[in-house]
Amino acid sequence: MTRHLRVDGPNHDDRLDLMAQGVLGQPLNRLEGPLKVTGRATYAAEARPRNMAYGVLVQATVPAGKVLEIGDAPGALAVIQDKRMVRYAAQGMDEKGPTSGPDRIEYMGQSIALVVAESFEAARHAAQNIAVRYKSEDVPVLPDAVAPELPPKKQSAVGDVDKAMRDAAVTLDQVWHTPSQMSAAMEPHAAIAEWDGDQVTIRAALQMLSSNRKQMADALGIKEKNLRLLAPYVGGGFGSKLGINAEAVAAAIAAKQLGRPVMVAMTRQQVFDLAHRRSETRQRIRLALDGDGRLTGIGHDVLVSNLPSSEFTEPVAQATPFTYQAAQRQVVHAVARIHRGCAGSVRAPGEAVGVTVFECAMDELAEAAGIDPVELRLRNIPDVEPTTERPFSSHMLAEALQEGARLFGWSGRKSVGQRVEGEWMIGMGMAAAVRVNMLIESRARVTLLQDGHAIVETDMTDIGTGTYTILGQLAAEMLGLPAERVEVRLGDTDFPPASGSGGSFGAASSGNSVYLACEEIRSQIATVMGCNEADLTLQDGVARAGNVSRPLSELITGQVTADGHLQPGKTEKSHRQATWGSHWAEVAVNRWTGEVRVRRMMGVFACGRVLNEKTARSQCLGGMSFGIGIALTEAMEHDPRDGHAVSRDLAEYHVPTHADVPALEVHFLPERDAYVGPLQAKGLGELGICGAGAAVLNAIHNACGVRVRDLPATPDKII
Ligand code: MOS
Repeated sequence: MTRHLRVDGPNHDDRLDLMAQGVLGQPLNRLEGPLKVTGRATYAAEARPRNMAYGVLVQATVPAGKVLEIGDAPGALAVIQDKRMVRYAAQGMDEKGPTSGPDRIEYMGQSIALVVAESFEAARHAAQNIAVRYKSEDVPVLPDAVAPELPPKKQSAVGDVDKAMRDAAVTLDQVWHTPSQMSAAMEPHAAIAEWDGDQVTIRAALQMLSSNRKQMADALGIKEKNLRLLAPYVGGGFGSKLGINAEAVAAAIAAKQLGRPVMVAMTRQQVFDLAHRRSETRQRIRLALDGDGRLTGIGHDVLVSNLPSSEFTEPVAQATPFTYQAAQRQVVHAVARIHRGCAGSVRAPGEAVGVTVFECAMDELAEAAGIDPVELRLRNIPDVEPTTERPFSSHMLAEALQEGARLFGWSGRKSVGQRVEGEWMIGMGMAAAVRVNMLIESRARVTLLQDGHAIVETDMTDIGTGTYTILGQLAAEMLGLPAERVEVRLGDTDFPPASGSGGSFGAASSGNSVYLACEEIRSQIATVMGCNEADLTLQDGVARAGNVSRPLSELITGQVTADGHLQPGKTEKSHRQATWGSHWAEVAVNRWTGEVRVRRMMGVFACGRVLNEKTARSQCLGGMSFGIGIALTEAMEHDPRDGHAVSRDLAEYHVPTHADVPALEVHFLPERDAYVGPLQAKGLGELGICGAGAAVLNAIHNACGVRVRDLPATPDKII
């Protein structure tokens, strides 16, 4: 039996809060944690099928053009040139996955061929020494070198921002730059492909198996049913594994051609070349404020870049139309078609850099108007979504701001440059956090066994976020079992297709499908008990209804299996759905060196129901750490001559390390969102990053009076 639900309306009941097992929400440790840290969780590159050969991708050394000839590779089994590899690599894989694309070189470092050998070392040696003749082209690689395109769906305007600016009591008009950024997940991309007749199994590092299966079947020209993808353990994704990448396509093509399993694992530098980057952005913010501290005009003009053949445009200003109220508003998203590596979704695409910059602008405006930054935000929160006048599914920004100010001790903040400790200038800064919320269609299967164990199966992934744990907790709660009696099986396209992990939609989407499957099992148990499902209590393997109580082992013969199927519905359109929060930072800026040390940082978040306090908190810790990176350290630099990324490893591309990140404080506001399915839970994964960097940058200004608008704020820009 499958229980279907389209989320067409609200769900106000509190049944999950009243369930007897009491395990949902608990801060349980991640189930797969011990497996990962002891090496027992096998990542994509760690399987060793018999007779496996090793492939290494050959990369273009020109920024654009065609390959005329590829030389021999002594010591190699094969050099495989296949336009599908080139085409798929060129496209870089945004969420949709390309179905067409050029078979030509579009950027320096793009994969153009695969060398296969008996060992990785032999393949790498051959790949590095292979002679390639190109017909190369001169192409633009700098965002300012071309006239930008304006994708029609990404523009919006109400009224006249110029007029608002002319009539305002206080205005702000400034331009910010953020650099290209990389996902930089710990596990480099890798795939092992193995054919059995016309069936292929590919182990790969992927976030969204059911859509990846479609993309891969399309790439290989085979039927989906002939393709099985496996990704039981994934060492981080951050967007880079949302779509299939060159290594998996190449492994499958090579394995077919050679008639033996082939592994293609990228080096760290190849990941930086071949996985997509976040586009650099140029953001002009215009704000007009009246004498009462109310915004009358908001302008957010964005320039990003991408390859000529790529569809993705980073939605930098997607939260701008609904975060604050103003009668005159304009959002512009322009794209420069240039030949840097493909741009795609990276860690909170849009808000990560858009909210960060906007919240810096709000801080500047507050200062110019002589209004407390918290107060300025509170005064400009809309009641309904501006323009559409849709209600919010829930709205907790004001609470997050007020609670944050109280918890952080915001009232103790001094004016600019007034707090000095020896050679350190100390400052406090804050920012709002906002991220759009969405659900994605998702299915799961749950089996309850007579011995009081349950099994959850779905092709959902756990990319380090805690999916195994939260889905197990949820099934345990619904079925009245201790959490350790539930086994969760993920990362296999033989299981029902799930949302996958991405866009902060994974936990709520896949969680709701597990909820539905469990609800179906509960109603089957209720039938045997002769009661309504609503009157059934399940706890520690015992079913109760009224005065009757019976162990599950008596009620079930063999096993009970049900599927859950969640689809987003009308609430997607009827309500503006978002998650909310606030960020707070205290920094010390060294007066002589310009070094910035983050001393304290706190986030207050509202995301609907929290499914596991520990994994939820960990998501926020990660997001806030990335916020520190956006503010202070992260930049992928491009060679101005050919666009090639020059910071291509974790020594050159600086993600914050332990020494850069103080003990972070995370608070959740209790919330249930009625419009996002029966779980009443929203996405949290990316909220922690959105705006976090602004709190740090605003704190730098409060410490020493410097505004850095060209990120990251490295010491040379502060001194
Ligand atoms: Mo995310 S950047 O949608 O994995």
